[in-house]
Amino acid sequence: MSPVAALTPQTAQQAQAVLRLDGIDLSFGGVHALSDVSLSIAAGEIRAVIGPNGAGKSSLVNIITGLYKPDRGSVWHGAQQFSHVPTPKLASLGVARTFQNLALFKGLSARDNVAMGLVDATRSLWVEQLVGWGRARRERQDALQRSDAIIDFLGLNAISHRLVGTLPYGLQKRVELARALVAQPKLLLLDEPMAGMTATEKVEMSRFVRAARDTYGTTILLIEHDIGVVLGLSDRVAVLDYGRKIADGTPAEVKQDQVVIDAYLGVAHEEEESH
Ligand SMILES: Nc1ncnc2c1ncn2[C@@H]1O[C@H](COP(=O)(O)OP(=O)(O)OP(=O)(O)O)[C@@H](O)[C@H]1O
Ligand SMILES: [Mg+2]
Repeated sequence: MSPVAALTPQTAQQAQAVLRLDGIDLSFGGVHALSDVSLSIAAGEIRAVIGPNGAGKSSLVNIITGLYKPDRGSVWHGAQQFSHVPTPKLASLGVARTFQNLALFKGLSARDNVAMGLVDATRSLWVEQLVGWGRARRERQDALQRSDAIIDFLGLNAISHRLVGTLPYGLQKRVELARALVAQPKLLLLDEPMAGMTATEKVEMSRFVRAARDTYGTTILLIEHDIGVVLGLSDRVAVLDYGRKIADGTPAEVKQDQVVIDAYLGVAHEEEESH
């Protein structure tokens, strides 16, 4: 096996890791979804993970969020080490995510969907409305104010009162981004935020992802199939293939890595040509 490129930018090395994975193994029956995967994400960087279908990208996100427990290895959220991340603590660890398949409440407005992103972050948003009206009302007003600020930031004002199920797919994905951002997470996990989007929608979404990092300092893990988007948007890229990390470096380094070209970029290129 060829060595993994250890060509980390100086700035990323100096910054404190918001997230670190050490030697993660995960299998399902006979399938090795992840084999000895280590990864670090520095504060304020946009960190991409790419790889062919089934390479283990979503499994990695599911380990970071505690939906899956690794067979071996550990996950560091800042200074806290876990062998199995406690999913209910994610909000307090400053982590938010979007899902590969949309996970929105289609019968609620965009604004209410965004406010749902604060349910874990505030104590009483819905449940305590039943018992403590004063505090609950203040919290709800605060939640809606914060939601409106993110809605404005992501250019969703015009559709904020529409039911999410009536919106075009690209806008639904943007509402999901707003819901993940509203609690101002330290670390935002985006699992294929641009899948199924038109080229124009992808350009817009890329702009918003970068703006989130630049404006709020959010550290971002980006899982994305569109190589053009990944190379243009991220500071560092890790490449998975059959559950193993085969490269890790800047976009320029990864793009020229022969192992990556053979395992992934070459295939992606052939697929593009055949369409
Ligand atoms: N819950 C599960 N049960 C059984 N097998 C699983 C499960 N989750 C993932 N796998 C398997 O683990 C491997 C990695 O899957 P994963 O979804 O992480 O890949 P991926 O890189 O996200 O792929 P895609 O690009 O298609 O989203 C695949 O072989 C998949 O079938
Ligand atoms: Mg996936």
